[in-house]
Amino acid sequence: MRRLAGRFIAFEGPDGSGKTTQYRRLISLLQQRGLTVCEVREPGGTPIGESIRQILLHTKDEMTLRCEMLLYMASRSQLVEQRIRPALKRGEVVMADRFVSSTLAYQGSAGGIPIPEIKAVADVAIQGAYPDLVIIFDVDEETAARRLSPLLADVSSTRESKGLDRIESRGREFHRKVREGYLEQARLEPDRHLVIDARRSADEVWQSLLDTLGQHLEA
Ligand code: TMP
Repeated sequence: MRRLAGRFIAFEGPDGSGKTTQYRRLISLLQQRGLTVCEVREPGGTPIGESIRQILLHTKDEMTLRCEMLLYMASRSQLVEQRIRPALKRGEVVMADRFVSSTLAYQGSAGGIPIPEIKAVADVAIQGAYPDLVIIFDVDEETAARRLSPLLADVSSTRESKGLDRIESRGREFHRKVREGYLEQARLEPDRHLVIDARRSADEVWQSLLDTLGQHLEA
């Protein structure tokens, strides 16, 4: 795990993949091993980024897909300059809960914006600060829907109080395309991506994450 000092890792996956649980576990483990971790959350992570997050996830107004994509990238650009680059320079491990791969999967593969257009905007926004490693938590639509459905089934509370934002409430077909988008990214650049089967229990997924990461670091 020491080899992760000064490295940038992104955690990715469709809604309901359980990635954030694994993200928290890995951060705790790295900290126990004495590494300093810079945690960044997307969209958000800076004061300006958090304001953009509010617009993105909770606006009641109709937003065009390209506006949505550009807002994610604007938030990310601020995050790179204010948090990610400085932390990497200090030799910290940067752990991102979502990054460019999310925009490629959600606004690109699922939303329909051509992937080369998103990549061009990402190049402008992050100026080469791509993660060293992207870990994709892969889950099928049925399992993801089951994990999210207790929230959906609870009719006593409002959508927002259940934590379901504008994007999570989109249909299953959208989620299927998101998943396919992630898998395609991993197929195109296998060296930068690890795909973890996230259909199993949180403990099994955690074990598989440790094994896969260990193998990757030794390779
Ligand atoms: P979260 O639940 O992991 O915090 O993610 C919030 C939502 O934002 C999730 O549905 C995925 C979506 N999203 C995009 O559509 N594009 C992006 O670039 C990012 C970072 C998130």
